Amino acid sequence: MQSWRIDAPGQTLVLASDGRTPVAVYWGPSLPEDQDLGAICDAAKRDVTGGMIDSLPELSLCPEEGDSFQGQPGIKAYRDGAPMYPRFAFVSGNGGEFVCRDAELGLTLTFRFEVQGAVIAASTSLTSDREITLHHLAAPAMPGPQFADEILDFSGRWIGEFQMERAPWRVGTHMREARGGRSGHETPPIAYFPETGATSTRGIVFAMHYGWSGGHVMYADEQPDGRRQIQFGHATGTRAAGTEFETGTLYLAASETGLNGCAVAFQRHLRDALITWPHPDRPRPVHYNCWEAIYFDHDFAELAAIADRAAALGAERFVLDDGWFGKRDDDTSSLGDWDIDPRKWPDGLTPLIDHVQALGMVFGLWFEPEMVNMDSDLARAHPDWILGRADQVEGRQQRVLDLSNPEVRSYLYDKIAAVLSTHDIDYIKWDHNRLLPVADAAQGDGIYALLARLRADFPQVEIESCASGGGRIDAGILQHTQRVWLSDSNDALERLRIQHDAALMLPAAVTGSHVGPRHCHTSGRVHDIRFRAWVAAQRHMGFEMDPRELTDDEAEVLTRVTAWWKANRDWRMGADILRLDSADPSVIAEQQLAADGTQFVVFAGKAASGKQNMPRPLRLTALEAEARYKVALINRDEANHLSRISIPLKEGPMVLTGQQLMQQGLILPWSFPDRLWVVEGTKI
Ligand code: DGJ
Repeated sequence: MQSWRIDAPGQTLVLASDGRTPVAVYWGPSLPEDQDLGAICDAAKRDVTGGMIDSLPELSLCPEEGDSFQGQPGIKAYRDGAPMYPRFAFVSGNGGEFVCRDAELGLTLTFRFEVQGAVIAASTSLTSDREITLHHLAAPAMPGPQFADEILDFSGRWIGEFQMERAPWRVGTHMREARGGRSGHETPPIAYFPETGATSTRGIVFAMHYGWSGGHVMYADEQPDGRRQIQFGHATGTRAAGTEFETGTLYLAASETGLNGCAVAFQRHLRDALITWPHPDRPRPVHYNCWEAIYFDHDFAELAAIADRAAALGAERFVLDDGWFGKRDDDTSSLGDWDIDPRKWPDGLTPLIDHVQALGMVFGLWFEPEMVNMDSDLARAHPDWILGRADQVEGRQQRVLDLSNPEVRSYLYDKIAAVLSTHDIDYIKWDHNRLLPVADAAQGDGIYALLARLRADFPQVEIESCASGGGRIDAGILQHTQRVWLSDSNDALERLRIQHDAALMLPAAVTGSHVGPRHCHTSGRVHDIRFRAWVAAQRHMGFEMDPRELTDDEAEVLTRVTAWWKANRDWRMGADILRLDSADPSVIAEQQLAADGTQFVVFAGKAASGKQNMPRPLRLTALEAEARYKVALINRDEANHLSRISIPLKEGPMVLTGQQLMQQGLILPWSFPDRLWVVEGTKI
């Protein structure tokens, strides 16, 4: 038996092979440096009993069909129309790469592992001597935790992204699949596997995130013998015939500090390792987006006036959204015709860009390159460039271009490059507003190729991934983009929840969050500017309303919160977001902890009026137990007349120990629902 260990901060993965495909014999919190790996392999052996075959089929990195294996195989392939049942022999392995071969079938399987920060990045590739048709290839299959009752994964919808789902572990397969051709609102490719009793801050938790935007499948599989395995791969049916195949990269995290340990590993990995920042030393600019101010109604004088007001509030980037190209007066036409509309912009975009820059802001522009309206010059000239059947059902009156076609990619490259090379553009909002007719891996590869080419030639341009809000958020797209439009919901209450759950993956620096109009366009709710401003200030802050609607009081509050955001962004955009275990389900709370641990801010949002009369204590986390912290409620002016007693936090800063904050907790003043308390902490 050969064995290898892969260590990342906080986790160890032990692989072993007895001459066949390696098996993950241990995955969990870090093992001692001098751990005897032979003992791990020995202790992992299991008995068999009556009613079973005489030896347990291995749950290897790629479980094989055959030998009466009843679970999900890691390869589902056909050759000449017949199913294949490979049986791989181990060829070589060095800790980072493991090669296995089935000589009879002419198949070679390679597993790669790389430590990236606290995350282990794993992928599988398959080559075949002769053409095969592949239906499924798993990224290295991992053991599912035994001391666990539940699987946490996500569903969601437009304006309701990142909804946490809980499914029981039980015999059989829990399957999630994104068949819409993108990672999807409904299926972010991420799952958490907590041990029983784990919370956001406590307990052992495993998490996996599949870095691929074209649609994935996840199997969480429990065998009749009790063993569990988890597989991620591309969505079923996204594979064509060929001889070379590769999975997306599967990112693995394990934690002894609850969901937060994995969340922080993912946040840091995305922010510090995966994303290529166009301006690594530039502070994240406060964003202004005009979509909910003007929609398709572009007019220079109006936009200039809006820009004046946005800049006065503190905006540093001004984004012109949909409607500047073709004859795009609504969403029925012009996608594909990426030439500036001379009716709306007789002198081009330069006058607006000059105006924005004179106000000290940089300029950003919206594109939706992968899409086409049938009412466009492009569709009329190239109907053959469109994916899917001619009589397909459209989505938002639009269809999808075939990005696997190099001609399509070069057309789009030329159009976008023409705009970028003749204008001073700092940022692109890259939208994607419909599902694909079918999930198609070639489409995913095509979009990555186009983005990579643009990034190489215009490295100074930041790109935001938007897909009707958060329909394409994953570590695949984030290798080419730097910000995500988390949701089209600018409703602060909805956003508070969405941001909280999305923090299981996303750091603040990449998560766009905007202060929307007073009357929310997607929920009809009216929220106080204080709530709207603080919720946006939790992440990469921006505004997305007509700022001329703001009253003096609203403008004063927004200017003040924006100034606070700017004053704190240097440490906060590199901080960890730690979800807090709230004893009160009506409170959604998080703690952002500076990388050096010397300061934190707690955001405690009151999402409902609550059950009991008074707030329950809120326990903080990850502080130094012995240290003393100066703790201040910075928006105590928001306490209202129904908060009737003078508790110390309402009067001014307090000095409390880390242990006290983590055990006794903080008791905040009573508040109305749809309000958010902000508590700053500084280590003394
Ligand atoms: C969908 C996006 O999510 C919105 O923010 C906006 O950009 C519209 N598309 C524009 O059509």
